Amino acid sequence: MKPNAGHFPQEVKRLYDNVLPEGQRVRDLIFPEVFGPQQYIGQYSDNTADQIIAMARRAGVGPDTHVLDAGCGCCGPAIHIAKTLGCRITGVDLSESHLAKAQASIQKAGLSEKIKLVKGDIFEVGAAIGPVDAVIGLGAWCHLSPRTFFPLCRQLLKEGGRIAFMERIRLGAIDADLYRQLTTEWAAPSVETFASYYFALSAAGFRDIFIHDLTEPYKALQRRFIEVRLKLQKQIEEIAGPEYFQSDLELVRAETDATESGLLGYGLFMAHT
Ligand SMILES: C[S@@+](CC[C@H](N)C(=O)[O-])C[C@H]1O[C@@H](n2cnc3c(N)ncnc32)[C@H](O)[C@@H]1O
Repeated sequence: MKPNAGHFPQEVKRLYDNVLPEGQRVRDLIFPEVFGPQQYIGQYSDNTADQIIAMARRAGVGPDTHVLDAGCGCCGPAIHIAKTLGCRITGVDLSESHLAKAQASIQKAGLSEKIKLVKGDIFEVGAAIGPVDAVIGLGAWCHLSPRTFFPLCRQLLKEGGRIAFMERIRLGAIDADLYRQLTTEWAAPSVETFASYYFALSAAGFRDIFIHDLTEPYKALQRRFIEVRLKLQKQIEEIAGPEYFQSDLELVRAETDATESGLLGYGLFMAHT
């Protein structure tokens, strides 16, 4: 395997910076409604505020820790974690539009001393960041192959440091069309499983691997994503047009059907060096 086989940073950048400008406005409409005021913290992933803080606490994040958020996006989660747990965070992302939004939110939150941003592909800029106490990922690591990315995380972590992430996974055999649709729409090299993440963590030298199945809350969240889209159809169409509304809804429905029929799920993964 080539060191970076299946790594498509340009596709990821295109997905977030070029294809989705209206998509971002739609997301800003949908996400607060899906999560509600208690759980929406500006995330662009399928995790509630409570799940994010629980994951960070379990990864030992506290006032004295330095965390790398790989694929930090607009930094909703990073800001919430830094505010709640008092840690320092370095956020890395290759999307210019996400980082611009992140920078403005960090300033507004008065957290410029706590959260630093680095622009670029984690494989290119990561080496200059470590060593850190924890590397975290929220809905971002589907874009990365764990077989090349986890060894990098291992290098960036201090001895005893933790890796922690939440991500979509495949639970059953997905037919070729759906697999192609998911990998293309997510700009993802693969759709990993509980087992493949476990083996990749283990092969990269991580120990005490903890895996928690979050598929049930994920199912409820996906149903909510459909309900909210239907409820806000008119506003979504005003922002992005009826074609966008339909194709977006179809993708979410395909994913939801796959989850309901036991093919897709969601997991929390944690391990230490
Ligand atoms: C779905 S968003 C999640 C953002 C954030 N973690 C959250 O929960 O709100 C995924 C992010 O990962 C970033 N990303 C994907 N591949 C990356 C890479 N190779 N290097 C840096 N960032 C990457 C994307 O640009 C995008 O902002």
